[in-house]
Amino acid sequence: MIEIAPSVLAADLADLAGALDIAERGGADLVHVDVMDGHFVPNLTIGPPVVAALARRTRLPLDVHLMVEAPERLLDAYLAAGAARLAVHWEAATHLDRLLGAIRAGGARAGVAVNPATPVENLVDVLHACDFVLLMSVNPGFAGQAFLPRTLDKARRLSAEIATRALPVTLELDGGVGLGNAAAAVRSGVKTLVAGSSVYGAADPVAAIGALRRAALEGSR
Ligand code: DX5
Ligand code: ZN
Repeated sequence: MIEIAPSVLAADLADLAGALDIAERGGADLVHVDVMDGHFVPNLTIGPPVVAALARRTRLPLDVHLMVEAPERLLDAYLAAGAARLAVHWEAATHLDRLLGAIRAGGARAGVAVNPATPVENLVDVLHACDFVLLMSVNPGFAGQAFLPRTLDKARRLSAEIATRALPVTLELDGGVGLGNAAAAVRSGVKTLVAGSSVYGAADPVAAIGALRRAALEGSR
């Protein structure tokens, strides 16, 4: 099954309730929330009170992507805020195994996010501890950047490793995802497609979610 996760970072930030409504009406599976701290990435976005407010306003699970330094200081706050899935960056984590354990103990699905320049082979000794891997297909920090096609090769390599070991780990692709690359992403082993600009920048964002799902399903045939 394919999952579509609209990223509210690309929506009108003065109307987050409207962004949630679009995701629900479009039949999205998750809502992707980008947390940036102004240190790990050069942008500053959403904190725990806003995530809690989003959780109160939607029945969709929140897929929270932490682009922060020292994520261990913030895990509890985002778990309490209602994250259903919580991803920490490989590049920001010193004790990744411990962090993933804490996310699972907090009742959320645990994810590792990797930047474009980070080889997926670095994950070989942590795959057993996570539920999903978030592959960045842009350099994190902003919505609306161009997709980096090399990421598909990373997805293929990682999904081969996951299949060989029969692990219950899924792949999420984040950055520049749209109609032109959704099928190729799914063919490369991706299950969860994050879409910011291709949804919220579309003339009809509700229809864009359905169109993206149909495009993605072409890759699963
Ligand atoms: C980038 C964020 C992405 C971004 C996706 O740092 O992690 O989730 O919002 O937006 P698009 O789809 O426009 O690249
Ligand atoms: Zn993201």
